Amino acid sequence: MSKVQPLKPQIDGRTIGVQGRDTDGHWRLDFRLSVTDLRKSFLDRAGERLEVLRGVSFGADAGEAVAIMGASGAGKSTLQHLVAGLEEPDHGRIALGPLEITSASPATLAKFRSNHIGLVFQFHHLLSDLNAAENVALPLMIARKGRREAMTQAIQSLGNLALGSRVAQPVGQLSGGEQQRVAVCRALITQPSLVIADEPTGNLDASFAGEIGETLVAYARSRGAIVLLATHNERLAQLCDRILVLKDGRLH
Ligand SMILES: Nc1ncnc2c1ncn2[C@@H]1O[C@H](COP(=O)(O)OP(=O)(O)O)[C@@H](O)[C@H]1O
Ligand SMILES: [Mg+2]
Repeated sequence: MSKVQPLKPQIDGRTIGVQGRDTDGHWRLDFRLSVTDLRKSFLDRAGERLEVLRGVSFGADAGEAVAIMGASGAGKSTLQHLVAGLEEPDHGRIALGPLEITSASPATLAKFRSNHIGLVFQFHHLLSDLNAAENVALPLMIARKGRREAMTQAIQSLGNLALGSRVAQPVGQLSGGEQQRVAVCRALITQPSLVIADEPTGNLDASFAGEIGETLVAYARSRGAIVLLATHNERLAQLCDRILVLKDGRLH
């Protein structure tokens, strides 16, 4: 079976943060994520300013899985959207290795995100008319891998999450839990340097939740990637290297 090489991490054509290759030929990365004094507020419907993040700072090294816990509405998703560069903070700085996420141009950020950041959303945003393998292969095809190579890799990764028998099924016909596992496969398929997973086990029963957690943590360790995992699930958080708790706009 042909092996698909992950994309070399690049910003504007410059290779960054590569330590070398591991025995599988994958790039080993040496990024550090550093988040400094992040603040973000929103106007609520009554026009009142809601201060969601009031000075959040933390760092994560390559190979680390970090859990973000906190009550519903504490700002976990907001923090993750900021780190992914999907929203702008009011104040503060986010850097992933040499990439300044908070000041990069939209074009640089969009390209970096599509190649090197894997996102798993709470509502998984799969394309329901495409089958499972096509959904997982899509990020590789967007990154200009050939269809055959991309599909081969997608089918292999679905097999690893016990979805081998579902590859040809339109994802709209899969259960919520199955869809969530497809979303995790899709997020990891480009071998991202940073994985942002927002309550990725919300619809899963305990055994699959554990499996998803273990998959993400193992991915961080083996690839030298950083995984940020927002979750309500204490057991899942315990699988990570560190647990950060968001409360009253700050980390504890
Ligand atoms: N775009 C927005 N406009 C207004 N309020 C928002 C927006 N996004 C999030 N919020 C509010 O910010 C708070 C934190 O939301 P969120 O980050 O989704 O929390 P969590 O993921 O921890 O449940 C909530 O009170 C939410 O209603
Ligand atoms: Mg959330």
